[in-house]
Amino acid sequence: MEAHTGMLREGALKEKVIVVTGGGTGLGRSMAEAFLQLGAKVCITSRKLDVLQDAAAEMAAATGGEVLASACDVRKWQDVDRMLEEVLARFGQVDGLVNNAAGNFISPTERLSTKAFETIIGIVLMGTVNCTLALGKHWIAKGERGKTVLNITTTYAWTGSGYVVPSACAKAGVLALTRSLAVEWAKYGIRTNAIAPGPFPTKGAWQRLLPGELVEKFDMAKRVPLGRTGEHHELTDLASYLISPYSSFINGEVVTIDGGEWLKGAGQFNMLEAVEPAMWDTIERMVRNVKS
Ligand code: HXC
Ligand code: NAP
Repeated sequence: MEAHTGMLREGALKEKVIVVTGGGTGLGRSMAEAFLQLGAKVCITSRKLDVLQDAAAEMAAATGGEVLASACDVRKWQDVDRMLEEVLARFGQVDGLVNNAAGNFISPTERLSTKAFETIIGIVLMGTVNCTLALGKHWIAKGERGKTVLNITTTYAWTGSGYVVPSACAKAGVLALTRSLAVEWAKYGIRTNAIAPGPFPTKGAWQRLLPGELVEKFDMAKRVPLGRTGEHHELTDLASYLISPYSSFINGEVVTIDGGEWLKGAGQFNMLEAVEPAMWDTIERMVRNVKS
C-alpha cells in the first residue's frame, strides 16, 4: 500500500501549537504525528515520561517537527497547570487541545468499587475538564481568538453500554461539555468539537477491552457494516481537519467515524453478556496485568 500523505495540504497547521493528551500511544500518537506532518508544533502529555520521550524522539525524526514531551496526570489540575506553563515556555503560545487521554476496562458493573468509577471518570471526564479549563482560561485572559478544543468521545456516549459503564458515563459527560462550551465560549473565539470513533485497533484499548480469546470471540470488524475496523489515518485526517482553521464554521459538532457500526448495534460491549460469569475472574486478572 502507498504511504498515506494526509487529506489536508502541506503546511495546513503551520505555526499552530497543539497539545495532545495521551499523545504517546495509540490514536493520540497517530494524531500528534499527523499534526506534525502538517507543520504544527506539538506537546504530547500523559503519565509516563519514558513513553512520551521515546515517542517524541521518533516522531521528531520522522517528521522533522518540534515535539515537547511533558508528563502530566490529567486528573490533577496542578499537573495540568504545570504542563501549560511548559508549553508556553517552549513555544510561547498554544492554539489547540485534543482531549484524547482515557482509561477504560471491561467489567460487570457489580464487580466495581466506587474507586474504579472515580478513576475512570477522573481520567476521562475530569481530565478533559481540567485541560479545557486551564487552556480556555488562558485564552480568555489573553483575549486570544481562533482556538480549538477537540474531544475524543465514543459512540456509546449517547446509547450507553454495559460492561464499560464508568467509561460510558464519562464519555457522555464529555459530549455534554463539548456542546455546552461550543455555545458559551464561541464568543471568545474558541470552537469545541468532538470525534466519536468506532473500533480502531490500538494496544491500549484492545488489551483492556478484548483480552485473551475475546478478541476472536467478539471480532469487532464483524460488527461494522463496512466489514472492517478503522485505520488510524482515517481518524487523523478528520482530527487534522477539525483542529485546523479549515473547519472554522464547525462548532459543537460530534463527528462519528465508525463505518456505520453504532447504527447497526449500539453499545459495543453489551455483547459481553455472552461471557460465562465464571470467566470474569480470569478476565479481570488479564486486564489488571496489562503493563503498557
Ligand atoms: C475491576 C479494577 C480493574 C479491573 C482497576 N480496577 N482495574 N476493578 N476490574 N480490571 C480498580 C482498582 O482495583 C482500583 O480500585 C481502581 O480501579 C483504580 O485502579 P488503579 O490500578 O489504582 O488505577 P490506575 O493505576 O490509575 O490505572 C488506571 C486504569 C488503567 C484505567 C485502571 O487501566 C490505565 O492506566 N489505563 C490507561 C489506558 C487505557 O485504559 N486505555 C484504554 C482506552 S480505550 P480499588 O477500589 O481497588 O482501589 C477506550 C475505548 C473506548 O476508552 C471505546 C472502544 C470502542
Ligand atoms: P491508549 O493508547 O490506551 O490511549 C490512552 C492514553 O491516555 C495513553 O497514552 C495513556 O498514557 C493516557 N492516559 C491514561 N491515563 C492518563 C492520565 N491520568 N493522565 C494523562 N494521560 C493518561 O488507547 P487509544 O485506543 O489510543 O485511545 C485514545 C482515545 O480514543 C481515548 O479517548 C479512547 O476512549 C478513544 N477511543 C478509542 C477507540 C478505539 O477503538 N481505540 C474507540 C473509541 C474511542 P499513560 O499511561 O502514559 O498515562
